[in-house]
Amino acid sequence: MSVPAAVTGLKEALSSAGPVLPSGELLTDPAVLVLELRQYLFQDWIPVAHASELGSAGDRIRCSVATREFLLVRHTDAKVLAFRNRCLHAGYPIVEAGDPSNGAELLCKYHAWRYGLDGELRQPQLPAMSGAPCLQRYGVALVGGLVYLHPSLQKPETEPVAPDTADWLPHARTMRHSIELSVNWKTLACEPDRMARLLPPSAQGRMQPCGRLAWFAGSEHAAALVRLAPRDACATTVSILLMSPPGAARETVSDWPPGIPAVVAELPCEPGSARHTFYTDYLAALQTQA
Ligand code: FES
Repeated sequence: MSVPAAVTGLKEALSSAGPVLPSGELLTDPAVLVLELRQYLFQDWIPVAHASELGSAGDRIRCSVATREFLLVRHTDAKVLAFRNRCLHAGYPIVEAGDPSNGAELLCKYHAWRYGLDGELRQPQLPAMSGAPCLQRYGVALVGGLVYLHPSLQKPETEPVAPDTADWLPHARTMRHSIELSVNWKTLACEPDRMARLLPPSAQGRMQPCGRLAWFAGSEHAAALVRLAPRDACATTVSILLMSPPGAARETVSDWPPGIPAVVAELPCEPGSARHTFYTDYLAALQTQA
């Protein structure tokens, strides 16, 4: 796969000692996102849910990781399993918005193919095959009350990065929000502390990295998991999972605060700045996977 000129240009700029101005194409070229999807965005553990969102056998939730949608299912033996949310028959989503959030099996409404909670196809039975086909499983880990997904089919070589969390986190009450922004994901990820301004004051704090494009912030009174899901080169979903101690009042996420520009790409990155460090690490990760 050829490397887009914007990435090559970033490499040359970072090798100089002066400030770096990433090119506009780095933030708009679909070919850059294709490279990132393959070599960066799907290559690490990502916290995608709180375990209480899958509290009972048969519970299921959808989650997007960049351009892919996954299905998390609480299996009958209390394990959580992860599949692509794509039917083996014709590729339609198995679970969609408004579908039941619990059930003894997974039913694809398009042509009524039925799967067990383990992802095995139950109906129709396909006589020509030896053994029932099964939805492909992805790596899942439960750490500190959070559910981590590994969106690559390769065996993970690392353990999830657990955030430094409050004792109550495994028992937290949760609330989800998402914000759609017409910006490239890097304009947000390069200065994650700006996203903390979206959170209720009690959950604001240093944004701890805890997986690819995910940060954890919080205090003893509230916490938040903030995750970026690039939709295309110029669109990103900010997914926020607010968590509060059992019995605490629920809080809300503010709108994107006016006066806080999401796009800071036009500014040069000075050596030693957070943005310079971000682009250095980003480039290293792209090259490591190459
Ligand atoms: S696409 Fe699922 S049953 Fe046809």
